[in-house]
Amino acid sequence: MSSNQFGKEGWKPERIGNLSGNTYLITGANSGTGLEASKILLSKGAEVIMLNRNEEKSQKAIGDIKKDLRGSTKVSFIKMDLANLSSVRSAANEVINKVAKIDGLICNAAIAQVPKQEFTKDGFESHLGVNHYGHFLLNGMLFEKLEESKGRIIIVGSEGYKMGLKNIQFDDMNWDKNYNPMKTYCHSKLAQMMFGYELQDRIKDANKNVKVYVCHPGSSATSLIKNSGGLRDRILFGIMSKTPLVQTAEKGSFPEVMCAVEAEENLNQKAYYGPTGKLQWTGPVGECDLKPHAKDKKVATKLWEVSEDATDFKWNI
Ligand SMILES: NC(=O)c1ccc[n+]([C@@H]2O[C@H](COP(=O)([O-])OP(=O)(O)OC[C@H]3O[C@@H](n4cnc5c(N)ncnc54)[C@H](OP(=O)(O)O)[C@@H]3O)[C@@H](O)[C@H]2O)c1
Repeated sequence: MSSNQFGKEGWKPERIGNLSGNTYLITGANSGTGLEASKILLSKGAEVIMLNRNEEKSQKAIGDIKKDLRGSTKVSFIKMDLANLSSVRSAANEVINKVAKIDGLICNAAIAQVPKQEFTKDGFESHLGVNHYGHFLLNGMLFEKLEESKGRIIIVGSEGYKMGLKNIQFDDMNWDKNYNPMKTYCHSKLAQMMFGYELQDRIKDANKNVKVYVCHPGSSATSLIKNSGGLRDRILFGIMSKTPLVQTAEKGSFPEVMCAVEAEENLNQKAYYGPTGKLQWTGPVGECDLKPHAKDKKVATKLWEVSEDATDFKWNI
């Protein structure tokens, strides 16, 4: 993109005003960009509810945040394992019962580059199951609440969407024949992004009041590869993290925070936001180049049907 609408340095959290009274849900918020996004939103007075799978890590993250930010920090967590659809259902029900309104649901959690084919509790290839199907069901169950709240959905994608097959492998969604850690991760991130753009179309047709934004964190120094990747990828990313090709997790959180809080008139749902510098991995946050395959209507429509079948959930839209 030639010029950045937010100026030479791109979008920064300094633009955020007082967020008191706003509530944000963030998946996978006990580390990495999710944790950094939580800190920024909390520091501006918002309430943050983390949807995390690990109780111990969540309590530690909450303790650290409270120590750092002091004051009355409204942060809590609800247990949710995206690798288990029944856990997603109960977390969504807990949100529906306990949370008065949702200003933003940030779909941030993910696993990446799992070395060998693994399956979620429901029998899906782990990247697709956690990153896409888990979030697809969560969004579907919370959609009515988001609509009542005139809220936003933020899909955290990845530049990986253009590094793998660049398509959805409908004839082998579990990658039984050609499992590959990187391609399978990229497939799941493309699926998430296609879901986001397809959801925008459905919302428009149904005249609903929810905004959906798609962004990515560039290349950020988080525990993503350390937690789920194999030894070779962990070593490679460890080395890369020491170069200018990788930015801090805090900077990586800016695009998702921006999509959650920036004034609607300054954002375009059809866009793709993230760092705009070298390779779109680092640099000022703004609108990035997006390849057309992410919006292939035929593939997105089929993916929607396949995802409803897989999650046994029919969207009311
Ligand atoms: N870092 C990068 O360079 C990069 C590049 C492109 C895109 N991204 C995207 O950025 C987002 C944030 O990742 P990150 O880099 O900040 O990595 P991270 O530090 O590893 O954070 C990922 C979060 O997802 C959670 N998670 C994993 N599996 C889960 C499950 N089954 N149920 C619920 N939560 C689960 C993790 O929880 P645990 O702590 O319990 O494992 C963790 O809190 C992801 O969507 C990722 O695809 C990152």
